Amino acid sequence: MTLRAFLIVVFSLNYVFSNAGKTFSRFTNKTTETLLKDGAAVIQAVLTTSPRHSNALLFIVQEKEAESLAVMQVLLRQELSWGYGVFKVSRQANSTQDDFFGLIRHAKKFRQLSWNIMVVVVSEDPKFIKAFADHSLQGRLLVWSSRLLLVTGLPLSSLQSLLKEHWTFSMMNAIVINAEMTLRDISRWNIYNCLPYSTSGAVVVRIASWTNKRGLTPFGNINLFPEKYSNFHGATVNITALTYAPYWTTIKTDNPDGTVTETYKGTDAMLLKAIAGALNFKVYNIPTKNWDEVAQRVTERASFIAPVEHFVFPQRMDRYDYSYAYEFASMAFCASKPKLSPKWEALYYPLADAVWLAVLVVLLIVPVMLFALNRISHSLHQAKRIRTGFVAEVIVGTLLSQPLSKWLPMTASVRVLMTTWLVFAFIIGTVYRGNLTASLTLPKYPPRAETIGDLIKTVDSVISPPYGGEFRAFFLQSDSVEFQTLARLMDVGPTVMEGLQRAADNNEAYLDARRYIELNIAQYFTRADGSTKLYVGRENVMPGLAAWPIPYDAPFRSQLDRLMVAVLEGGLYEKWGVDTLNEARLESQRRQKQLQVQQAAEEKLPTDDEEQIIRSLTITHLQGPFLLLILGLAMAAFSLVGEIVAQNHA
Ligand SMILES: *[C@@H]1O[C@H](CO)[C@@H](O)[C@H](O)[C@H]1NC(C)=O
Repeated sequence: MTLRAFLIVVFSLNYVFSNAGKTFSRFTNKTTETLLKDGAAVIQAVLTTSPRHSNALLFIVQEKEAESLAVMQVLLRQELSWGYGVFKVSRQANSTQDDFFGLIRHAKKFRQLSWNIMVVVVSEDPKFIKAFADHSLQGRLLVWSSRLLLVTGLPLSSLQSLLKEHWTFSMMNAIVINAEMTLRDISRWNIYNCLPYSTSGAVVVRIASWTNKRGLTPFGNINLFPEKYSNFHGATVNITALTYAPYWTTIKTDNPDGTVTETYKGTDAMLLKAIAGALNFKVYNIPTKNWDEVAQRVTERASFIAPVEHFVFPQRMDRYDYSYAYEFASMAFCASKPKLSPKWEALYYPLADAVWLAVLVVLLIVPVMLFALNRISHSLHQAKRIRTGFVAEVIVGTLLSQPLSKWLPMTASVRVLMTTWLVFAFIIGTVYRGNLTASLTLPKYPPRAETIGDLIKTVDSVISPPYGGEFRAFFLQSDSVEFQTLARLMDVGPTVMEGLQRAADNNEAYLDARRYIELNIAQYFTRADGSTKLYVGRENVMPGLAAWPIPYDAPFRSQLDRLMVAVLEGGLYEKWGVDTLNEARLESQRRQKQLQVQQAAEEKLPTDDEEQIIRSLTITHLQGPFLLLILGLAMAAFSLVGEIVAQNHA
């Protein structure tokens, strides 16, 4: 059951066409009425060849003569399960260009209400047709899924130039029904289509003809509205792009004959290459100076694609459209990995709190037990009595792996206790020493900020590139305290290299697109051994979508999107991204190694403090024992003073 949406819009427009042609006046030997009937029959024939496509018809006719209205009326009499809109353009004095805009605006609303619309424009006046072509393009009346049927009667040569000149006819989904006079058929209607890309370039081809006797005769393809962009036949497509690694890098090489060849690298360049291969077109990058110009060329339709990732912003959409959003271009932050601060706790880390506590308890219980057992066995067996101080000495000494040479327990109970204690001391001592060695050589790094909440608590400022101003304003509007704090911490302006350097040297973070940061770290902040001082936080500051700018209502969009999705679904884009990054990382490591070799040759070894961590233990690791020793010395000195004082008083 087809949707029956009957809608009649009658919109009167005053528009002056000073030398408007007399419709179908070239056909003198036929009555107007017959011609009109024929015209209506052609339109009807075209409509019935594509009954499933459209569900709404929009007529734009000139109300200057009865003919166009009559065509419309004939059509309206047909049994059509479609919605209609009828726009009459009347010829009156005192009218302005603005009226035409009004017409397009209303027509566009009608288009937006419908699923797929067929716009039928009936006019024999080239000026009117041109005006319609220009205004419908500016007013964004047509998209690729809407179809345009121009019904006219122009000499073939002027028709051809008219079609080729206007984007609306040459690029969009449009065909023309032209009334022509031949020797045999007094009224013969030819149907033309303008193909922007064919084996012989842009051509206007006759795709069908209609006569009263034979009806509609298609030549070749029965589909009167063919897809124009599935094959570009090797044509050159103009694009605009500037270097934005890792997405797009332009490499210029000078040829011996003085010319310059441009090659493109990067993930987006590879994506475009894959699409160009599938659609069979070559790429020409129009020279541009800055990103504004890149977008401007797209807005002007001079460039068909700006194939470099652009954040999708609503305010950008009033200049151009976007292709399929193929990438999550998230803002991420990067900061330097937290450094190891010298820590006396290194001595404490090897054992857990509960273990320390248990050891302490044992250290209290065992001497008491030993003392008591010794006392009892002394009274029973006349064993050697030991002093309290000696008990402590034995216990602490054995815990610290000192030999038990001066005293050997004689009774069974004390022996059992001492054996148990020695085994315990052996295990605890070994475990502690082993774990201490491990924790000193593989120190525990302090946790690093992975979320914005952590970041704003730890860093002094957040650096962002010049375009970060937009983001700061955006964050300031946020209700989130975190974002507001982030905005206040932001320092907008430095370049990526400055930003990363500052992040590496100071307690600062740098904000930019994730892949871009990763690439720059890989390229410029990677050491010869592949390690780096910087890390990229796990949480995205702002998740965002990225796509390629394309002109408004670009008719090739569905083909472009289809192939982009194919590449993405195949996982190729992600793979290219990883490859690009690895390449950069290897390149950087190679450069660093070369530098080291050079420096070694000049006998200038690097004085990177972090390098030494790998070779030997530093004071960072061994601060604990020193502190302990100093503490011990201080206590010894203190007790010495105490002893002297006590001696003097005595
Ligand atoms: C592409 O750009 C070149 C140089 O700007 C221009 O000569 C050519 O006409 C353009 N091609 C198209 C199809 O717009």
